[in-house]
Amino acid sequence: MGKEPVYRWSDSTVIAPLINHWPAWSYLISPAAASLHLLDYQLKTMRSYLQDPESHVRACKDPELIGGPFMDIEPGRAGDVRRLLAETERMQRGNQELARAIIDAYSLLADQAQGQELESFYPKLPYRLRGYVELVYDYYNHPVVRMLEGLLYESEYYDARLQSLKISRPERDNSRPFFMSTPCLDRDDEIDWAKPFNDPQADWLFSLDVEPQPLGIIRETLGLSEKDEPRLMPMLSQGPASPPEKWQGADVRIRYFGHACVLAEWRGISILTDPFVSAMPTGGGIERLTYRDLPAKIDYALVTHNHCDHFVLETLLRLRHRIGHLVVPRSFGLLHGDVSLKLMCRQLGFKNVIEMDTLERIELGDGKIVAVPFLGEHGDLPHAKTAYVVRAGNQAMMFAADSNCLDRHMYERVRDCVGDIETVFLGTESVGAPLSWSYGPLFPRKPSHGVNQSRRQRGCDAARALDLLEAVGARRVYNYGMGQEPWLEHILALGLTEDSPQICESDKLLAEARRRGFIAAERLFGKREFYLEESAGEPRRPSLGVPRTGEDQESFDDRPSLASEVNDAEDTFVF
Ligand SMILES: [Fe+2]
Ligand SMILES: [Fe+2]
Repeated sequence: MGKEPVYRWSDSTVIAPLINHWPAWSYLISPAAASLHLLDYQLKTMRSYLQDPESHVRACKDPELIGGPFMDIEPGRAGDVRRLLAETERMQRGNQELARAIIDAYSLLADQAQGQELESFYPKLPYRLRGYVELVYDYYNHPVVRMLEGLLYESEYYDARLQSLKISRPERDNSRPFFMSTPCLDRDDEIDWAKPFNDPQADWLFSLDVEPQPLGIIRETLGLSEKDEPRLMPMLSQGPASPPEKWQGADVRIRYFGHACVLAEWRGISILTDPFVSAMPTGGGIERLTYRDLPAKIDYALVTHNHCDHFVLETLLRLRHRIGHLVVPRSFGLLHGDVSLKLMCRQLGFKNVIEMDTLERIELGDGKIVAVPFLGEHGDLPHAKTAYVVRAGNQAMMFAADSNCLDRHMYERVRDCVGDIETVFLGTESVGAPLSWSYGPLFPRKPSHGVNQSRRQRGCDAARALDLLEAVGARRVYNYGMGQEPWLEHILALGLTEDSPQICESDKLLAEARRRGFIAAERLFGKREFYLEESAGEPRRPSLGVPRTGEDQESFDDRPSLASEVNDAEDTFVF
């Protein structure tokens, strides 16, 4: 008798975490932020859609409006949206009241707390907030309602029963509507598995990527019957999974999975940055690395910041059982939008979550991971974020994501502490979303249009990127995290072209870096593999842990700024 066939997920299968049918992201999980987002965004968007579904659908096709609060649901399904709205109002009544309580508490303090003691305000707080907050001032006597986030996760305001995993096979990269504005209604060719994200059965399901199982067990685990098999079968592929062997070489092997997701491996150690892995649509798409191209075990997954293109629950949950340690930035714990990724990830079932603060390090067998500051790109809000310097043998690389070089002195000080950083991965998303794009519901009083525009969530332009590179002594630059891959469109809705300002800044940066003799200057796109070898040439400054001397500092600071030359000589670039 032959062996029973086993099945893994097909390369096209997406397992998307949903919360009350909406694509899950961090501001749908942390209870205070989720409640505010529900009240100020989801409910408003659903009500607006029901008033005029056609206008919403039209707006979703307008390049100027994509990424706005418009639902991409055919008007024929308005009845389903009406049911979802009614169900949401009923199921999440407590969350709506919590959101109103947060707004009321802030208003109370903003109007009445002017530096006097705050003790007398506790009895005046809305009941929904009692026991879940501390009232504090900053040093200018501006009051803050500080959420006790850990308690909120244990309260009625966090309801894991709303969580589910939707298994589907998108036809194209752009088949998926903008994640923030459009809930996922049921479809006949998809499977919606009601399951809390932290349920161990979810890991079993995800592990089909590396450990195929017989069809019957998969079907039963999903609670499906035999008549559901026609729906399930296309999601599966027969045959063994064969994750790649760990790379044992001393040179660093880099595999680029798109956006800011980079797998760095050497001597059997694997580090994955800002995990964001795409499936291949059934209708095809650009070449890419996918879940099957990751090693069976990833030693460290590093998250730089809590933006929806860097903290990607769809990928993180699917990889949870393969991730040894999940590294996240420290949150400040003061503002409710500065959600603790540590608390959230533990709540979501991650076992080894490490929160890192500036210059904290993780020692590896042949290297280390060091957290370094990440300035800007958050509308001047103090939210958790960090860049990472990874030391791998003789190599030092920085994964800076959307860091904005607002002050090159910071990078000079980092270099003092960690030595030269030869290789830098950096974005040039120099435009950025308006302040309110993702943060709007967090504000008890809405920012003006002028404030929204002036505080766009922008990263480096070419000049600032060059400033950064010069400050850390870089000789290789990989421009990444640009949102160009087609599977980013439903997350970022950037609609980039070669003329987009972000891409022009990228071109400027790379052209200038090449002119300056960088060993590598490249914009990563789609799929890429390369190796970092110790470069020949003059000896490099001692790295990581060896401070620079005062003499070094002086001579470095005296050098002319490469960035200012760029600004002065923009016309001379070859594009
Ligand atoms: Fe970002
Ligand atoms: Fe980004």
